[in-house]
Amino acid sequence: MAEGLKVLSAALPADVKLETAEYDLGARLYHRTGETLPDSVLEELKGADAILLGAIGDPSVPSGVLERGLLLKLRFAFDHHINLRPGKLFPGVKSPLAGDPQIDFVVVREGTEGPYVGNGGTLRTGTEQEVATEVSLNTAFGIERVVRDAYRRAAARPRKKLTLVHKNNVLVHAGHLWTRIFERVGREFPEVTTDYLHVDAATIFFVTQPERFDVIVTDNLFGDILTDLAAAVTGGIGLAASGNINPSGDFPSMFEPVHGSAPDIAGQGKADPTATVLSVAMLLEHLGFTAEAAQVEAAVAADLTERTGTRSTSEVGDALAARVSG
Ligand code: IPM
Ligand code: MN
Repeated sequence: MAEGLKVLSAALPADVKLETAEYDLGARLYHRTGETLPDSVLEELKGADAILLGAIGDPSVPSGVLERGLLLKLRFAFDHHINLRPGKLFPGVKSPLAGDPQIDFVVVREGTEGPYVGNGGTLRTGTEQEVATEVSLNTAFGIERVVRDAYRRAAARPRKKLTLVHKNNVLVHAGHLWTRIFERVGREFPEVTTDYLHVDAATIFFVTQPERFDVIVTDNLFGDILTDLAAAVTGGIGLAASGNINPSGDFPSMFEPVHGSAPDIAGQGKADPTATVLSVAMLLEHLGFTAEAAQVEAAVAADLTERTGTRSTSEVGDALAARVSG
């Protein structure tokens, strides 16, 4: 986070005054107070132009507490329905894939519906007949807005290609709704070439033919899984950035690295800040600082081609900030 803020300050034009407020959320706050996201913080965050979220999570906190009580709470409260996750293999970065694949796509993951809504329950808890349901919520409204956003993004890119990923041969209710809306909205974008893949087949192509993807639109859970795979084939989760976007601007959008908090190396100064810095580039782009966003991305790209040996977290941040202001 410190390195991300360093690069953000370096990138902003001199006449733009950056005002920041820091909130110490996550495991530490939870252990101290039992709270994950105090209402007062949620209220204050509403007034921000954007949120930069550090990776959260710690094995000392039961699974799900911070995920639901902090990260997902923010995504839902601020209606972050566009979860934007670029999958880009920068020059000089080694992909585990054979050859020298050209990977440059973006996953538009739905962010506020699907199985993430917490719609489910358990019956006969603790017995051998225990039942658990986790119902995926899919609304025409929610699908249409993310699908239209993905078409717009595809139309604005050189290749103008959009792939819908779902599993409509098995999840016939939700899958057919997604497919119908995808086809209907597509009529507004005749310039965009479309494609459909079942999610299992998509995982094959992510590995065997990642060049075929330009923009991908998919539901919340498929998008979660696919974007970890996307990170793996583009140099690892240490480079994967994301934006939780509310295009209306009614609430602040939130930018965060896709990776977790890596508690095993916390405080050692060796975590790679690049994913946070690339998330800062997405934040700048979202706020209309297009040239500055491009500068940050270019700084990362240049830095990546020259990486040798090991540097500390702050050394990487310093190098990126220097490139941006230089
Ligand atoms: C991510 C994470 C989250 C998700 C978890 C921590 C709730 O895996 O941002 O990809 O599943 O969306
Ligand atoms: Mn994930």
